[in-house]
Amino acid sequence: MTELQRDVVIIGAGASGLTAATRLWDAGLSVAVLEARDRVGGRLWTNDIEGATLEIGGQWVSPDQDALIETLADLGLDTYSRYREGDSVYINAEGTLTRFTGEIFPVEASTQREMERLIDVLDELVAEIGPREPWAHPRAEELDSVTWIEWLEGQTDDVEARDNIALFIADAMITKPAHAFSALQAILMAASAGSFSNLVDADFILDKRVIGGLQQVPLLLADKLGDDVFLSQPVRRLEYTAGSVRAVADGMTVSARHAIVAVPPNLYSRIDFQPPLPRRQQQMHQHLSLGFVIKVHAVYETPFWRNAGLSGTSFSPYEIVHEAYDNSNYEDPRGTLVGFVSDRKADHLFSLPAEERKRIILTSLSHYYGEEALSPVVYYESDWGSEEWTRGAYAASFDMGGLHRYGADLRTPVGPIHWSCSDLAAEGYQHVDGAIRMGRETADAILSDRT
Ligand code: FDA
Repeated sequence: MTELQRDVVIIGAGASGLTAATRLWDAGLSVAVLEARDRVGGRLWTNDIEGATLEIGGQWVSPDQDALIETLADLGLDTYSRYREGDSVYINAEGTLTRFTGEIFPVEASTQREMERLIDVLDELVAEIGPREPWAHPRAEELDSVTWIEWLEGQTDDVEARDNIALFIADAMITKPAHAFSALQAILMAASAGSFSNLVDADFILDKRVIGGLQQVPLLLADKLGDDVFLSQPVRRLEYTAGSVRAVADGMTVSARHAIVAVPPNLYSRIDFQPPLPRRQQQMHQHLSLGFVIKVHAVYETPFWRNAGLSGTSFSPYEIVHEAYDNSNYEDPRGTLVGFVSDRKADHLFSLPAEERKRIILTSLSHYYGEEALSPVVYYESDWGSEEWTRGAYAASFDMGGLHRYGADLRTPVGPIHWSCSDLAAEGYQHVDGAIRMGRETADAILSDRT
């Protein structure tokens, strides 16, 4: 058993843990990063599948994500815009396809007015409540006691307006059914992206991609740390006192003054904390869980939809694939579509044999793009639910009532133990930007403790 001594031990080599580790290392502290997997990056994973480079995990960058954009610049990584020329596609409950441009789906004029009104109401609430401390707002308990869908039902009788507005947060972001999380949680999601309008605007929220893949961020950060990153070292136990910690992994231990636990909160209970965490944390962590989505990649010889004047951007709350985009790689002559199948639809599809699942998903894509979508040269499903060291996608959210009850303690250290993850972030919550912000914040807290 290797025994190391460091100033700080970091558990988890995702974007958050590696940001914290490099910041501490730059400030002259010694660090060791222990990673359970045999690779760095966590939910960032750029991989070659049958000759196609695919972003298995996170990939998009939006213009408000300052921390991520700064990191990309520091690491010398370039971005390119998602393809967006031409018409988008919307399919309504009757299965009718309509092409459109702009952000608002092509619906009846009265439904459009309701959607615009709801977006305005939400933008106002989001601006008032903000991402930093939604639990501190006077209406926090009220909004945390009503589900997202109930809140929408209270606002409008227009079912299609409701379904569409629900989609932007439920299927598309939190990846839980709209009855499974609160209106306050939905407001946090929108506030963390700047506004509800930003979530509706695919050209904003899914603006850019990184040439060569977003996993380069953790890979390059890890390169900086060299031999201080240890792979295939799941931390099983964390022993701590007021001023010391000892992390016990499979083949090594690291003793340090501080620990940063940079894993998603649904995995905290996999670590045996000694002494056990305080009551408040033990309770709180049981109210956080990951949503679930299948990210589907279909690669074609050419981006055939562009010839038909389509941008590749498609939406329907009534389709198995509720949203899909042109995801072709930079300067790649092949065309890639990426689509998403969320929560209960994903559960259902995973109860079917793989070939049946593929047929259903491709059929759904063909509803948007025509018959050619049925025959990709490469087909792949990102299944984060099967990943032992993640267990879902995209990220963690509170169950009903959890956010106003526990939110204030989410980021509070326990003795020498700090928590860092995109799933705890304010701005950039559930995104790489939030992971980086949290990494910076925890490193700075440790550095300020030192002075
Ligand atoms: P992350 O989960 O990445 O890292 C935690 C690390 O801890 C992992 O490497 C894990 O193996 C390790 N670990 C866990 N337990 C351990 C233990 N006991 N001991 C040691 N190590 C342990 N975001 C975005 O900005 N744009 C996007 O387009 C998308 N899209 C997207 C798609 C999909 C399919 C997914 C799954 C996610 C996204 N996201 C995204 C979200 C984004 O990927 C995510 O928010 C961040 O990558 C999370 O980074 P963290 O470092 O916080 O956690």
